[in-house]
Amino acid sequence: MKRKIAILASGNGSNAENIFHHFRGNEEVSIDLILTNNPQAGVLERAARLQIPAIVMTRTEMKVEGALLTVLREHQIDWVILAGFLALIPGDVVRHYQRRILNIHPSLLPKFGGKGLYGDRVHEAVLAAGETESGITIHYIDEDYDRGERLLQAFCPVSSEDTPESLANKIHRLEYFYYPRVIEHELQLSEATPGDTH
Ligand code: GRF
Repeated sequence: MKRKIAILASGNGSNAENIFHHFRGNEEVSIDLILTNNPQAGVLERAARLQIPAIVMTRTEMKVEGALLTVLREHQIDWVILAGFLALIPGDVVRHYQRRILNIHPSLLPKFGGKGLYGDRVHEAVLAAGETESGITIHYIDEDYDRGERLLQAFCPVSSEDTPESLANKIHRLEYFYYPRVIEHELQLSEATPGDTH
């Protein structure tokens, strides 16, 4: 049965586009929805260009009980992929999509995770701490954001010459390689497990 994916992103959306290209033409998986909380997000232009249905749902709208879950169910979404999504996922969505929501974080969790640590702030904190390596963490989410079962960490070196921008580039390269592959792997594993519901 074909798995329908929603990608949730708040910013540029380069990971979202990379994931879309990875699965294009795949008969088992389709990217059916892009959802953002940010009406200015670059991911909306990408969605338009790639002809993926896109929805803006502000943080306030998302706080209305059942709102996000309703949209995901209306689109018959099976899996939710977070790619730079900065709003909190409501508890009902986390519960409904248990082990079907993946997130990527641009550091080696538990280091440099938690409230306020997102995007370039993570890279700035890594550099300020004088770390000699950083990387990515791909994990399931539970109701406490950067917690949840970790699936993969990949590393990159950090040098004293690095800037937040150069470090972000290294991290993005890791993300582009690993995130689609981990998603595909988890989808394949879950195929053997009955009980998916819309
Ligand atoms: C990525 O580094 C992701 O790990 C982080 O936000 C960034 C999003 O980049 N959570 P993009 O919007 O996919 O270009």
